[in-house]
Amino acid sequence: MSDRYVSVAEPILGPEEHENVEAVLESGRFLQGPYVEEFEQKWADLVGVDHAIAVSNGTTAIQLSLKALGLRPGDEVVVPSLTFGSTATAIVHQAGVPVFADIDRELYTLDHTDVERCLSDRTAAVMPVHLYGHPAEMDEICAFADEHDLAVIEDAAQAHGARYRGDVVGSIGDVGCFSFYATKNITTGEGGVVTTDDDDLAAEIRLLRSHGMANRDEHVTLGYNYRMSDLNGAIGSAQVDRLAGFNQRRREISERLFEELSDLDWLRPAVVRDYVDHAYFWAPFEIDTDAIGMSGKEVWRELKERGVETRHRYVDPLYDQPVFAEHRGFNSDFPWSANEHAHDYDLSLPNVEAVAGNTIGLPNHPGLDDEDVDYVVETVQAFGDEVR
Ligand SMILES: Cc1ncc(COP(=O)(O)O)c(C=O)c1O
Repeated sequence: MSDRYVSVAEPILGPEEHENVEAVLESGRFLQGPYVEEFEQKWADLVGVDHAIAVSNGTTAIQLSLKALGLRPGDEVVVPSLTFGSTATAIVHQAGVPVFADIDRELYTLDHTDVERCLSDRTAAVMPVHLYGHPAEMDEICAFADEHDLAVIEDAAQAHGARYRGDVVGSIGDVGCFSFYATKNITTGEGGVVTTDDDDLAAEIRLLRSHGMANRDEHVTLGYNYRMSDLNGAIGSAQVDRLAGFNQRRREISERLFEELSDLDWLRPAVVRDYVDHAYFWAPFEIDTDAIGMSGKEVWRELKERGVETRHRYVDPLYDQPVFAEHRGFNSDFPWSANEHAHDYDLSLPNVEAVAGNTIGLPNHPGLDDEDVDYVVETVQAFGDEVR
């Protein structure tokens, strides 16, 4: 076991976060309040949209977006097969049916050329995911969606401040959904935000997040309690101000890792298109499991033993997860039963199969100093030599 341990993610909190939280504690007002509003305004400005609506987490951001966009029971939403599960479970929670597309072999994001295969007369929306912080191919996806009259929901949970051809993600589709979970580029502890330029959608999402209540006495629609508390908003408002600096440091570290580890025969840095600003939620590398002679999971475990924590996800395609493969929804076959198409998810999509389980993210968070990064580079280099 190594003396040094370089973690892959940690929240970085400064005096501003402490002062804001202290102010909320002293006010005794923990509900959604002025800090949530301040956080929303700052996030709307950063993304370049008219509305940012803070919610309890990234999953509920997706749920409320789907509901506000009018998803009906059995309606289909096309998603990439390699992403965090809640991109797709959020669809089922809203009584919709996820339809799984392949991923781009180089970018790991939704393969826009596979979306056509997924279309049916029940397709309502397409949900690209800006996986690991690299924007999906939005021009092609939005053009396809326009042609087929589909809504576009950006799952930007992992891509705070990333840009696609100059536009900040979350401002490109009909709505953008963000997560501020503790490991993200910035955090509120738990939290989420929906971004949109559409006034009506924004009003509907605000109504839905707070019990569907138009006022204290009237439940005008089936709503939820998906609000963010001011304690979380207080942290978020301070964190937003630091995002640009954090992302700059993530970029420096990630680019250094990509460069210094580019000539290993068993580890390949991810491709980054020249027309994007990557948010580097991850510094992703693909493992050649034949060349190293072990699985992705074993590499993850061995590097951890040597003091380098890595991210290692997503091990299985979503279409193989029991929740989808076995239609485990509402303790019944709903919402699949509300859809006349067969969705048995008996899939084996080539790019997903090639990548699943073979990707790791090396430590790149802004709390690392140059010696930490040196250690990561040296450890990864030495590991390849040592195990062969
Ligand atoms: C791609 C993606 N979508 C959605 C989510 C859900 O966000 P949350 O964990 O805040 O519910 C996450 C969270 O990790 C995510 O990575």
